[in-house]
Amino acid sequence: MSVVCAVETTKQQAVDLVLGERKANQAAMHEAEAFAATNIALCKYWGKRDLELNLPLTDSLSITLPDKGAKTRLQISNNEHDVVYLNNVQLTDVHPFFQRVTKFLDLFRVHQCKFKLWTESNIPVAAGLASSACGFAALVQALDQLFNWHLTKQELSILARLGSGSASRSLWHGFVHWQAGVEPQGLDSFAKPLKTLWPTLRIGLLVFSEKPKPISSRKAMQQTVATSPLFSTWPQTVAEDLAKIKVAIDNQDLQHLGETAEGNAMAMHALMQSSRPAIVYSTCETLQAMQKIWQARKQHLPLYFTQDAGPNLKLIFEAAILPQVEALFPGMELVIPFRSEK
Ligand code: PMV
Repeated sequence: MSVVCAVETTKQQAVDLVLGERKANQAAMHEAEAFAATNIALCKYWGKRDLELNLPLTDSLSITLPDKGAKTRLQISNNEHDVVYLNNVQLTDVHPFFQRVTKFLDLFRVHQCKFKLWTESNIPVAAGLASSACGFAALVQALDQLFNWHLTKQELSILARLGSGSASRSLWHGFVHWQAGVEPQGLDSFAKPLKTLWPTLRIGLLVFSEKPKPISSRKAMQQTVATSPLFSTWPQTVAEDLAKIKVAIDNQDLQHLGETAEGNAMAMHALMQSSRPAIVYSTCETLQAMQKIWQARKQHLPLYFTQDAGPNLKLIFEAAILPQVEALFPGMELVIPFRSEK
């Protein structure tokens, strides 16, 4: 009788599978620089089928925020240790960002080389504004350039996912669909852009707090999957919401897009709140803003929101109601996802 033993793929094995022979390519440039924009999920990723490889249990769909993101400059250095700057401040090796980034870089070192890295981000770090999504998407692009690998966007999406799940969606502009895939090694779990443009679509950022979140999305996801009595309903909710959102995008139907995206975010937060112990990212400001939005909708203003793992909200609306939205939320930061198509 033969015994079949399931061996889990490590991150290093996943990287080596993607890079193949290119890993040995030592024709490194002196320096590389890349920018990646952040993305906001309209249909959320919440729950993993593989914790090590950030393989999701469900598909998800996002919109990229073109001007908001991270720029990363990378060099191979002669130092004995990695050197990491975040927003022009050199980090010590106990800083969580230093540890996360250098651990990720370990996967790509040729002959144990050390790196010097500068990241500048124009969004608050770890405040539920997907700073890790653009951070890892920029980093894999910088690595690709530095080592002349010429990876495809699909391959870059797989590598970025190993840093942070949502980073797999930050390689493209516009609407992006991340397919969960079924393979244990995750080579079929990458994102793809949708063709549809929506020039009148607007996203408004309501930033109530720039403080790092009380619990990381990684931990919160695990706790939710392990303890929420509602979690079994989530994959079906996502399947239905994703299909509705795709139809709404095709029809440029803001009402259906907004209602579904908002409902999806509320369902994700209901899972978190029902986990044990409860995870609550909303603050009084978050709830007050929600009330204002629902009140405005009662008065026929087509304004919707989504919320990630933090207290901040992202408004979803069309250009025609911008003056009313600005009057309601004077502090809102406007993002035009399809700016060049205006
Ligand atoms: O990629 P992570 O581990 O930061 O998780 C992202 C989770 C959400 O932002 C809440 C949802 C999503 O799909 O982006």
